[in-house]
Amino acid sequence: MNSRREIIAFWEARFEAAGVDSPRLSAQVLLTHVLNLSRLNMLLESRSLVPEGSFAAFESLALRRLEGEPVAYLIGRKEFYGLDFEVNPGVLIPRPETELMVDHLLGTFARDAAFRVLDLGTGSGALAVTCAAMFPHCRVTAADISEQALATARRNARKHGVADRVAFVRADLVQGIDVGGTDIILANLPYVPEDSREAMSSEVLRHEPWLALFAGRDGLDVYRRLASGLRGRVREGSMLLCEIDHSQGAAMLELFAPMARDVSVKKDLAGLDRLVVVVF
Ligand SMILES: C[S@@+](CC[C@H](N)C(=O)[O-])C[C@H]1O[C@@H](n2cnc3c(N)ncnc32)[C@H](O)[C@@H]1O
Repeated sequence: MNSRREIIAFWEARFEAAGVDSPRLSAQVLLTHVLNLSRLNMLLESRSLVPEGSFAAFESLALRRLEGEPVAYLIGRKEFYGLDFEVNPGVLIPRPETELMVDHLLGTFARDAAFRVLDLGTGSGALAVTCAAMFPHCRVTAADISEQALATARRNARKHGVADRVAFVRADLVQGIDVGGTDIILANLPYVPEDSREAMSSEVLRHEPWLALFAGRDGLDVYRRLASGLRGRVREGSMLLCEIDHSQGAAMLELFAPMARDVSVKKDLAGLDRLVVVVF
């Protein structure tokens, strides 16, 4: 039997040599997962020996990690805004930059505000469920074109005790959805430009659903379809938040300005354009 620290050091080196992203963290998270401990407890007793059964489970995950499978899919979960979400290869792994959308909501509305939210392209339900958890009086419609995403989002809503305030709808963007009855539309829809495929991490390209990522040559095909789907249907005073690629701020201002009272672009922590706020 080997100790936790020996196993981590060995696999960190193997991951690093194979060019795997975050080699040390990957080894730590996988070992923490099979030992069913908190990361802190796993690290505090790093000299403890790892039982053979746990080691075998770790090794089979580590070998998959060596092939580039994302850690979140291997352990079946990912944290978003402090909440634990089930994820699987049918849904995008929620990204830290998407937390900016929740920050914006928390900075705009009181926690006891009652409003109706539509989360378009809900994926794992990260935004829909977090919003329902943060604002106990809001009602959410979570929509996606993917059945697998909706099933995952439904489980996440149950897990966080908000399923009674989240409705799930399979839809192509806003087709058949009561947009006029919505106060806030959250849209983290596909926006990756096809052109940037070459520069993307092979881990993302090989394992995450392309339906969640790409949207035409400049990445704006889906947002353009959304803009035409919303025209003439939104309630005055309602708001749309769209996550974007840093290259798309000016084009999004141009796209939504003709149908909005106000459009602005917010930057993320890295100082890059990330969030478009449209007020109708
Ligand atoms: C970038 S992922 C975002 C997932 C989730 N909102 C998040 O922030 O982690 C985009 C999601 O949009 C969905 N999607 C793609 N095209 C769509 C369409 N035409 N109508 C509805 N949903 C769509 C995908 O299935 C995917 O779940």
